[in-house]
Amino acid sequence: MSVVVRPADPGAIEEAALRLARGELVVFPTETVYGLGADAGNADAVAAVYRIKQRPPGHPLIVHVLDDAAARYWADWSRRAQRLAEAFWPGPLTLVLKRRPEAPAWACGVETTIGLRAPAHPVARALLRAFAELGGRGIAAPSANRFGRISPTRAQHVVDDLGDDAPLILDGGPCEVGVESSILDLSRTRPVLLRPGGVTLAQLAAALGEEVLDRDVHAPRAPGTLDAHYAPATPLELVDTAEVAAHVARLREAGLRVALWSRTVPPANADVGLPMSGNARLTARELYDTLRRLDRAGCDRIVVERVPRTPEWWAVRDRLRRAAAASS
Ligand code: TXA
Ligand code: MG
Repeated sequence: MSVVVRPADPGAIEEAALRLARGELVVFPTETVYGLGADAGNADAVAAVYRIKQRPPGHPLIVHVLDDAAARYWADWSRRAQRLAEAFWPGPLTLVLKRRPEAPAWACGVETTIGLRAPAHPVARALLRAFAELGGRGIAAPSANRFGRISPTRAQHVVDDLGDDAPLILDGGPCEVGVESSILDLSRTRPVLLRPGGVTLAQLAAALGEEVLDRDVHAPRAPGTLDAHYAPATPLELVDTAEVAAHVARLREAGLRVALWSRTVPPANADVGLPMSGNARLTARELYDTLRRLDRAGCDRIVVERVPRTPEWWAVRDRLRRAAAASS
């Protein structure tokens, strides 16, 4: 099968919806990253997502829906969910809720909960609408990369990563947000943020009017379980601002070729260098594309300058930390 990338015009979106309804997979853009989508109500289609992604079982998929009305089919809807949906949907927020027993469990693995998200990207919304007209209840979609690798924020990234395994790809251009959605678990007594993303902890707490717990602080995972994520093939190091220049110089003196992403050290100091923006949003948007470019540069080491410890940098900091952990 050869790879088919199509501009996401109305005809291509209609074709993609038909394919989903037939149980086939489709790659589509969202405002966060590209998703590898399947009919969430079709067990075989969902199994194919796990196969292509090479994703181990026990990592449930997010089900994408048009709005809160569609979400109510899948989950026990709560007042908290309603508040958050009003504040942030459509947008980069996934809510983990108790799954309704009547709703199919295919997308959820062994979980009694379900992750739901209404994406904001116009192509994702048009696809959800067209699929709903064909009777679809939701699109189960992980990021359209192989398990543990860098998420795709351009159609070309999906082609590079999935190759001939890629199904029809709707090209909607570069993703605006560039990092995955924030995941908030509302199935426990208190709200817990499972993954930082496009919506910050402070924004969630403000919308809910109550404290939101950070999983990394309040319920740390077993070491290493999720750390092997967002990994380039080239070893990646995070280095403090004050030490970047000296560190790069040392590595090069030792004969290593260095690819650098830095806000303060000029690109010319390294074998391959890319400037990092001082703006957290812009950096998030460029993050995965930059990691891919640095990885392709054929260097021995990727050096990335640590980003500020302020809330708006949280998602980028989290992904960089994981990329570094995965290559150590
Ligand atoms: O921005 C995004 O969320 C993108 C786009 C495509 O929407 N999707 C995405 O999916 O990042 P994926 O599969 O790469 O990451 C989904 C994460 C996984 O870490 C999974 O464990 C968690 O969501 N998740 C999904 N359902 C869950 C549930 N019921 N309970 C806990 N975690 C859940
Ligand atoms: Mg992913």
